[in-house]
Amino acid sequence: MLSPNHTKLFKLLKSDPWVQAPEIPEVRDVIKNIPVTNLRRGNPKPPQQLRHLEQLYRDRIAPHCDLSAFEHCYIVAGVTDAITQFVATHRECWQITRGDYEYALTIGNRGLIHDEPHNRFSLIMSNPYCGTGNIIGFPDIDKPIYCDMAYAGSTPELNIELPDNCEQAWFSFSKSHGLVGERIGLVFTKQPHPSLSLSQAVGMWNYTSVDIAIACLEKFSYCEIPQKYQIVQHQICSELGFTPSDCFFIATTQDPEFDCRKRAPDLPARINLSHCWRYI
Ligand SMILES: Cc1ncc(COP(=O)(O)O)c(C=O)c1O
Repeated sequence: MLSPNHTKLFKLLKSDPWVQAPEIPEVRDVIKNIPVTNLRRGNPKPPQQLRHLEQLYRDRIAPHCDLSAFEHCYIVAGVTDAITQFVATHRECWQITRGDYEYALTIGNRGLIHDEPHNRFSLIMSNPYCGTGNIIGFPDIDKPIYCDMAYAGSTPELNIELPDNCEQAWFSFSKSHGLVGERIGLVFTKQPHPSLSLSQAVGMWNYTSVDIAIACLEKFSYCEIPQKYQIVQHQICSELGFTPSDCFFIATTQDPEFDCRKRAPDLPARINLSHCWRYI
């Protein structure tokens, strides 16, 4: 039984437009003794560690998502950073669809928002999908797709086949490992990245974040954390009358009381369950 009472909790859930994974105690235990890496640029260790991280990530995700066509890999400060780099370097208009993650639109002036993907523009889309927290299909468009996979690793099963026109796939440790404050993400690309290939050639990344990511991947298999926490998600949802999403910290509901949390008129309301975790 959740406390506080439902009225108070519903008020909190209705007021929060964002989603966030709860802190994962097992992850906190893994990373608490990692020292800050303060090596000088030019030291060979950070690039070696970065290549080690890349290989580990590729190995871990391989049973769930084939990244073999994505030859290049870069570390970023979360998917937010991947989006910033995309918006800063993409020379043509691009689009997102209504209900998807809107950050890109807020920082650039080449972004368009459409109800359905338009065949004339590159598409930034999240999958697992930000509008519901569920894994979705890819639209059939000719232009490139840039896939925001910030919620990958947060679903008990991940079986995503990236379409041939997917040019980049962006991953994060914020949701999958509850590490939003560490700012860790990986960008996989088919072509060398216009900005990240330059900054990474001169050692411009956070070396400690690479060590943290490695420690997490060495400890947990890809979907292990959401598999464990899905049980709690289902308990919360059955008590509150929500539908559990594929992502373990998200639910949806058609209850009109939560209409303020719909990300588009044709979507159910999306609920950030992480508030409920601490009341269990
Ligand atoms: C769909 C989506 N993409 C990206 C992000 C940002 O992720 P990160 O913390 O890796 O920058 C969020 C954060 O809520 C998100 O919902």
